[in-house]
Amino acid sequence: MDKDERLKIILGDALEELKKIESNSVDLIVTDPPYNLNKDYGESKDNLFHDEYLEFSRNWLSEAHRVLKDTGTMYVFMGMRYISYIYMILEKELNMEFNSWITWHYTQGLGKIKGFSSRHDDILMFTKSTEYTFNLDNIRIPQKYYRKINNMRGANPGNVWTFSHMHYCNKNRKKHPTQKPEAIYERMILASSNEGDLVLDCFAGSGTALRVSQQLNRRCIGIENNPEYVQMITERLQEPFYGFDSMDERMKRIPSDLNDKKIRDEYIKNHINWFLKSHESEIESFQQEVMRQYGDKIKAEKNLMDKMQLKMKI
Ligand SMILES: C[S@@+](CC[C@H](N)C(=O)[O-])C[C@H]1O[C@@H](n2cnc3c(N)ncnc32)[C@H](O)[C@@H]1O
Repeated sequence: MDKDERLKIILGDALEELKKIESNSVDLIVTDPPYNLNKDYGESKDNLFHDEYLEFSRNWLSEAHRVLKDTGTMYVFMGMRYISYIYMILEKELNMEFNSWITWHYTQGLGKIKGFSSRHDDILMFTKSTEYTFNLDNIRIPQKYYRKINNMRGANPGNVWTFSHMHYCNKNRKKHPTQKPEAIYERMILASSNEGDLVLDCFAGSGTALRVSQQLNRRCIGIENNPEYVQMITERLQEPFYGFDSMDERMKRIPSDLNDKKIRDEYIKNHINWFLKSHESEIESFQQEVMRQYGDKIKAEKNLMDKMQLKMKI
């Protein structure tokens, strides 16, 4: 199938369009609905009464649950005000299996004068049954230290994910008020789907889920009710790709205590393939980190090798 036939952008209302999708047909849902915080998305009201918002959430969540395969996973972004209600709907009304409560720590934001400034949004991960895809190896992060007992293939990234907001200075920043970093979607999609699987985002916004799915060879349906954002997505999907617009900073680290040359060489050879796929522009900073930590050792080892070769020639 042609790469772009794998991607479908639908202009329309999430609930209406979800109703047209076949039951049990989607492998993964990753979606970021309006949080009812009075954001200006042009087409839709983001200031519903409390009960209206719950009704809206209940309706789209139950359709999303219907279209999800029995082996499927759903990730839902949500702000603090409504997350407990969304949790209740997923667990108690839709009988889904709770898996993880992920905190997206965004490091900066508005300052509160009375109370603590908000520094996180959260993502609820639920599965439809106890049988589901989870590709841990595809989302591991480099270990902090080399230890024989550590799995040097990498560690589980945990459930607190630090990525800054999409600042205006980011080259990939679009004219959308709540565009999310691609690296968050990269992790969810790699973990919970396989190449060729069908991903759905019913509140597509600037098209982050579609863009990440495109680059990770997944099929994806995105639904968005604002025609200007649909146009933005169409253009975004045609842009050349130089790597995702964000990355977990831990991906660039090289474990300390890699003192054995053979183990270190083997590790460095694998690091790029394991952790920096789709982040080509970050390879240079990884190599700088290698030199910062191990440069002196690498030079000394090279000098020793050169001396030994010279001796052998004599
Ligand atoms: C929080 S934003 C999604 C941002 C997206 N994750 C990104 O990275 O750009 C929610 C989006 O849902 C859209 N939306 C709101 N209500 C909708 C509805 N009933 N049907 C379809 N789209 C809707 C808004 O226009 C907005 O673009």
